[in-house]
Amino acid sequence: MKKLLKTTLPVLAGLILSLNTLASPAGGTLDRANTDINNQNSLQNGAKLFMNYCSGCHSISFMRYNRIGKDLNISDADVEKYLMFNGEKTGDKVTSSMPDAGAVKWFGTTPPDLSLISRSKGTDWIYTYLRGFYIDESRPFGVNNKILVNVSMPDVLWEARQNKSTEDFDQDVRDITNFLDYVGEPAKLVRVDLGYKVLGFLFVLFILSYLLKKEYWKDVKYGKWRAKD
Ligand code: HEC
Repeated sequence: MKKLLKTTLPVLAGLILSLNTLASPAGGTLDRANTDINNQNSLQNGAKLFMNYCSGCHSISFMRYNRIGKDLNISDADVEKYLMFNGEKTGDKVTSSMPDAGAVKWFGTTPPDLSLISRSKGTDWIYTYLRGFYIDESRPFGVNNKILVNVSMPDVLWEARQNKSTEDFDQDVRDITNFLDYVGEPAKLVRVDLGYKVLGFLFVLFILSYLLKKEYWKDVKYGKWRAKD
């Protein structure tokens, strides 16, 4: 046992250290998003905020309205009332109605599709980005961004921030981030939950197997076949 500990402990310590460096970005400048994919209220609020503040420019074209409704427990009527504004059908993909040519003229670029943004940049990045706008008069929209320097997106949440405490605003941004995390991988809703159950099952199975093994070996060691030494 001691020998086992001696060899595994340094390996474990090394693993934890390297995971730590992997998790923190270069320079460690990102704030922690601390999103919770199992928090349904947060996801619902995030979906609403996204449709109100972001979907005018950004598509999430890998996602359909009715799938959001089903996954987040929002009734069809509420999906139409709170999430859809342009006479789409509930089976439609969530696409922005902004014409590409117009976008290039207005922003110098087209607002990217955000279906997989949480996979490519991570939730901490999105959370920090949305809270990272600051006033910079030299820019076309009068704002710049801490982590996407010379950004061509306006600070769309500026108005929403005015009548809110920092905590409430941070929570709203966290909810949008959480929603984008879900959009990036809808199966996460199921697999994270299932993962815990599978691990729990394996744990119970481990205890049972261990007891069973003890039971078997009890006889083998000192039983009818082998005298106690
Ligand atoms: C007025 C149009 C507009 C709105 C509304 C808008 N964005 Fe953007 N967004 C843009 C543009 C344009 C870019 C590209 C910025 C650049 O590349 O400089 C962008 C970039 C981004 C990026 C970075 C993507 C990348 O690949 O680097 C994220 C994330 C993002 N937006 C999220 C949001 C969220 C979340 C909202 C809603 C709260 C939102 N945007 C609302 C126009 C918009």
